[in-house]
Amino acid sequence: MRVRQHVNPLEVSFEALRVEAPALSPRRRVEVEIGCAEAQFLFERAGQDPSRDYVGIEIREGMAAWVNARAKEQGAPVQALFCHANHHLREVLPAGRVSRVYLNFPDPWFKKRHHKRRMIDEGLAADLAWMMEPGGELFVQTDVWDIALDALEVFERAEDEFANESGPWSFWKGDNPYGARSAREVYCQAKGRPIWRLLYRRR
Ligand SMILES: C[S@@+](CC[C@H](N)C(=O)[O-])C[C@H]1O[C@@H](n2cnc3c(N)ncnc32)[C@H](O)[C@@H]1O
Repeated sequence: MRVRQHVNPLEVSFEALRVEAPALSPRRRVEVEIGCAEAQFLFERAGQDPSRDYVGIEIREGMAAWVNARAKEQGAPVQALFCHANHHLREVLPAGRVSRVYLNFPDPWFKKRHHKRRMIDEGLAADLAWMMEPGGELFVQTDVWDIALDALEVFERAEDEFANESGPWSFWKGDNPYGARSAREVYCQAKGRPIWRLLYRRR
């Protein structure tokens, strides 16, 4: 299947939602990766703990379709939703039920002139707070320093909703604590690139 390398999130066509909210069992905990691409991280999580549901949000339609085909073939509790994370999260995910949100290397847009395209902003923080259960975890990792700083600022300003597990205005000092690794994470580690991480808990 041919999958586009990048799409421009400012395209108007992404403003209309074309998928339905997934059917999630009220008895299963839910983990969400925003910008999941091929969802390597979620497939690994599902292998570790198949008792949960794993939802990937992805703006590239072909990529979301590929993830869903793989999940069906493997019988994995993973599904990808083709939608724009900055427009539709409240339409496709349940309020107050998500146990973990992962923002793994969220953005290919790191040039200054692409600032408007960035995914992590105040609106996204409010949507994540809306969908997460109290005590839920929000994990961010990126190899782009500007994005790490942006994310730190956005979630520190949302301090009424999110508590930084490392203390205010601090990056997570440990490694990725989840055992699963995303494709970009594997690539960065193989190349010896620095990775900045943040871990917050929903108040
Ligand atoms: C750099 S890749 C990282 C993929 C994966 N999380 C990883 O760590 O390997 C960023 C992904 O986010 C997706 N993306 C970017 N902006 C998005 C948006 N506004 N809504 C949903 N997905 C988005 C891109 O299509 C891409 O698949």
